[in-house]
Amino acid sequence: MAVSQHLLIAGASRGIGLGLARVALDAGWHVHAVVRSLARSSELQVLAEQAGARLQVIECDLAEADAGQRIAAALGTQRLDCALFNAGIYGPAHQDPQCIDEQQITELFLLNAIAPIRLARQLAERVNEGGVIAFMSSQMASLSLNLAAGMPLYGASKAALNSLLRSWSSELPSLPWSLLALHPGWVRTDMGGANAPLSVAQSASGLLQVIERQHGTPVCAFFDYQGEALPW
Ligand SMILES: NC(=O)c1ccc[n+]([C@@H]2O[C@H](COP(=O)([O-])OP(=O)(O)OC[C@H]3O[C@@H](n4cnc5c(N)ncnc54)[C@H](OP(=O)(O)O)[C@@H]3O)[C@@H](O)[C@H]2O)c1
Repeated sequence: MAVSQHLLIAGASRGIGLGLARVALDAGWHVHAVVRSLARSSELQVLAEQAGARLQVIECDLAEADAGQRIAAALGTQRLDCALFNAGIYGPAHQDPQCIDEQQITELFLLNAIAPIRLARQLAERVNEGGVIAFMSSQMASLSLNLAAGMPLYGASKAALNSLLRSWSSELPSLPWSLLALHPGWVRTDMGGANAPLSVAQSASGLLQVIERQHGTPVCAFFDYQGEALPW
C-alpha cells in the first residue's frame, strides 16, 4: 500500500474507531476522523498532536440529516481510498421488542443502519475506484448464524445495515469499490465490556489488513476481522 492513502473513519472518538485511527496512522495512512466532540476525546486529542497533518478531525453528529454535506465540506477536494462507517450503539439494555419506545427505535435504526448507508452513498463519489467502503456490522447480523438471540434489537439493526448494503450493491451495474460489512470480533470497549477476549489493537489491526487486502479487487462481502467470510 502506498503511504499517502486516505482513510475516513466515521465514529473515531473511542473504542474500535479510535483504535483503527491509531493503527492506520502507524501504517502510514492519512486519517480523517469524524467525531461528535473532540473536546470529549482526550485520546484522540493526543493522537492528533502526535500525527500532525496526517490526522484531520471533523466534528459531526452522524445521525444529523446534513452530516454528509458537512463531512464533504470539511474534506474539501480531498479524495479517499477507504471510508469506514464505524459508529454504532447497542440500544436499550433490556433488548426487548415489547418494551422499546419509539424514540429508542428511531435512534437505534437511524444510527446503526440508515445513517451509515446514507452517508456512504453521499460520500461514495469521493472514494477512488478500487477503494473500499466498509461498515462496522456484527456477526449478530447474520440471519443464518442466528446468534442474536440475546441481543435481538441490536442484531436486527445490524441485519438492516447489511440488507441496505446488499440492496445498494445490487443497484450498481458494476462495483467501483468494495462494499464490506465487517465483524470486529468481541472487543473490550465500552460496548463490548471488560470480559471480551479481544483488545482494540488486535481487532483494529485485523480489520485494517482486511481493508488493505481488498484494495483493487471490488467485492460486496461480509468478513470478520481475520478476513473469514461470514454468511449473510
Ligand atoms: N465491541 C464489540 O465487541 C463489537 C462487536 C461487534 C460489532 N461492534 C460494532 O463496532 C462498532 C464500534 O463499537 P465499539 O465497541 O468501539 O463501541 P463504543 O466503544 O461504544 O464506541 C462507539 C463509537 O460510536 C460513536 N458514535 C455513537 N453515536 C454517534 C453519533 N451520533 N455520531 C458520531 N459518532 C457516534 C461514539 O462516539 P461518542 O464518543 O461521541 O459517543 C464512539 O466513537 C459499532 O458499530 C459496534 O456496533 C462492536
